This record gives sequence, C-alpha cells and structure tokens, in this order.
Amino acid sequence: MIYFDNAATSWPKPPGVTEAMVRFMEEVGANPGRSGHRLSVEAGRIVYEAREAVAELFNVEDPLRIVFGYNVTEGLNLALRGILQPGDHVITSSMEHNSVMRPLRALEREGVELTVVACSAEGFLDPAHVEAAIRPNTVMVVLNHGSNVVGSLLPVAEVGRICRQHDLLLLMDTAQTAGAYPIDVEADHIDLLGFTGHKALCGPMGTGGLYIGPRVDLERFEPLKRGGTGSRSELEEQPDFLPDMCESGTLNAVGLAGLGAGVRFVLEQRVEKIRRHEEELMAQLIEGLKAIPSTGLRRAQSSRSGRRSGVTVYGGHDATRQTATVSFNVAGLEPSEVGLQLDEEYGILCRVGLHCAPLAHKTIGTFPTGTVRFGLSYFNSGEEVEVALRAVREIVNGG
Ligand code: ALA
Repeated sequence: MIYFDNAATSWPKPPGVTEAMVRFMEEVGANPGRSGHRLSVEAGRIVYEAREAVAELFNVEDPLRIVFGYNVTEGLNLALRGILQPGDHVITSSMEHNSVMRPLRALEREGVELTVVACSAEGFLDPAHVEAAIRPNTVMVVLNHGSNVVGSLLPVAEVGRICRQHDLLLLMDTAQTAGAYPIDVEADHIDLLGFTGHKALCGPMGTGGLYIGPRVDLERFEPLKRGGTGSRSELEEQPDFLPDMCESGTLNAVGLAGLGAGVRFVLEQRVEKIRRHEEELMAQLIEGLKAIPSTGLRRAQSSRSGRRSGVTVYGGHDATRQTATVSFNVAGLEPSEVGLQLDEEYGILCRVGLHCAPLAHKTIGTFPTGTVRFGLSYFNSGEEVEVALRAVREIVNGG
C-alpha cells in the first residue's frame, strides 16, 4: 500500500507519537491544570511541553500565546470570530479552504465586508492585488499559506510586510505547511496563525489551534466559548489572559501528548530537511506526471469527449513553489474513477474531488468535478513515486 493522502491526514506517524499517547493513557490520565495532585501536574506539564514545542517551531517567544483546540478550523474560526465586527473589512484569496470561506461568508451575512482577491489559474497570489484591495475599514488579511488543492505557496512574507505598512492583522492558515515548510511569525509578520496537529506536525487528529500575537488587542477579542479553565475559579467571568481566555473545558491532553512528540520529531529532523526531501519527491512526481505519454484506448475516448488527452497537471509545475501536494486529472475519466482504480488495483491511497475547497477549484478551472490529489510526506520515497507514476501511466493507457 502507498499512502499519498497526507494533505488530508499524515500517516504513518513518526516514532514516539503513539508511545507518548499510550504513556499518557496508562501512566498519567488525569486532568491537566485542574487538580493539584501529581498526575494532574504531570498532565499539565505534558500539555505545556506541547505548547513550547509548537512555539519553538513557529519562532513564537511566549508559549502561552499558543491556544490549543481541536483542529485548524477551530483556530481559524476563533481568529475570525474573535476579531471581525460588522462594518470591518477583511481580505482573503480565491485559493482558500472552506475552513476560511465558510466562516467568512457567515460573517459577511452579519455585516462584515469581504474581498476575495483572485489568484492565478496556477493557484498563486500577487501581493500587489492584496494591497490594491485595502480600504479604510480593512482590519485583516487571511490567507492560506499552502493550497490544499495544488500546493501553491502564497507569499506570506510580502503580504506580511504590506499588512504592517497598513496596520492590518495577518492571519495565516498553515494547515498544509506547518511542519513541512519553514514558518517564522516574526520574519513573516504573522499576527495570527491557525495550525492543525494531524498533518505535517505529525500528531493525532483532534489537536490544533491558534497562535495569537501581541498586535491583537485582547481587550476586544471574543473567545468562541467560555467555561472552566482551572484558573481564576472564583470568577464567574472568563479570565482575560492567554491561553485560558480561549481554552475553556478539558483539553485533549492525550492528543496533545502525541502532538508534542510529533512536533519534537519535526524539530529534531529540522523543517529544512523535511522540506528538501518533499521537494525532491514533488519534482520527481511533477516531471513524471507531465511526461506520461497518452496512447491507446484512453486517447480515443478523450478525443471523443473533447478533453485534453493524457494527464493534466494543475498548479505551477515547480516543486520549489509548492508543498508536497499535486492535483491532476486523466482525460476521459472522472477523478473518482481514477481514485478507485488507484486504490483497488494499485493500493495507492489519495483524495479525489473538491477537497473542501470549491473556490480553489473554480480558480484552477476544475469545478465541479475536482481533481485527483496526491499528498506526499517525509515518509514517502522516490520508489513509491515511481510505482505511482507507473500506475497512472497504465490508467491513462486504459488499464
Ligand atoms: N483539509 C483536508 C484536505 O484537504 C482534510 O484533505
């Protein structure tokens, strides 16, 4: 079996992640930060170590600015709902996932003004278009760091500079890049950063959150939920400090034990090394897909249906400008048919369709049927890429 669905969830996890979770369940198990007994203190220490690891990875000085939640969607909703008020203007791109688009469309119905800046058909954003969209009431720019459809990297540092010049907040969705591409909140001028644990951070599902930077006015920030925090329990009002202000209810401590181990693995390996490996695999995959000659049965079918023959590879065709995710289509076949053949006949697991990002697919011209998506990780090899290329070649040639 070849697992090429890492853009959805990374698998396998590195050594140490399952062990940390099993240790938590078997030897710790208590509620972090609530009770004063030794197991509660140990659980709190494990959660704090996960916070420290995430902070180190993103060059965040104060780990208490890392708010944990269940996934990046929760982190992004917290940032958008926490800051935007009716009458505010927010700018985003046309490559966003629904984790950004759906909360923004809901906020638009409540009186927030929204500009969606068009990206190129390859999935890239021109920072000048962001600057041109700024209005007197703009408060925030929210961007996908790496597209979950074609992997295109959006120009975070350039947009960050523009945001600082115009005194705007920059919120980044790092679902596809955290752990796989270098991110530095200081150098990139990121004020808010949504992250998820179960992709390249190598942790389990049910972990993620939001970095809230010092330029965010906490006095005006609205948490998504309020409740018990284990701190200031004499108050009936929510604490006004991070992370407790935004972390009500018992955390997924067993998940965070796994996340801490996953991020420590990333830190030990170094993101640059992970990135180099993924970039090499992606260059091999893109070149291989583009080189697939179209012969035989499928060509006859595709010319009848009027579609381009062979394989169409989307995105910039440049591994240095994208994550380890690529989308393609086989002429004459629905993405779902290709995905089924890859799974059933070749044991290659990937994701097909719209990838919860309809606007991104409209941008690259693949809406409504979508694409076949290969999402690679540090744990994939060049041999696996070769096997997958052979499989796609056979499918193109009629199986
Ligand atoms: N957002 C994830 C994906 O792109 C689940 O597959």
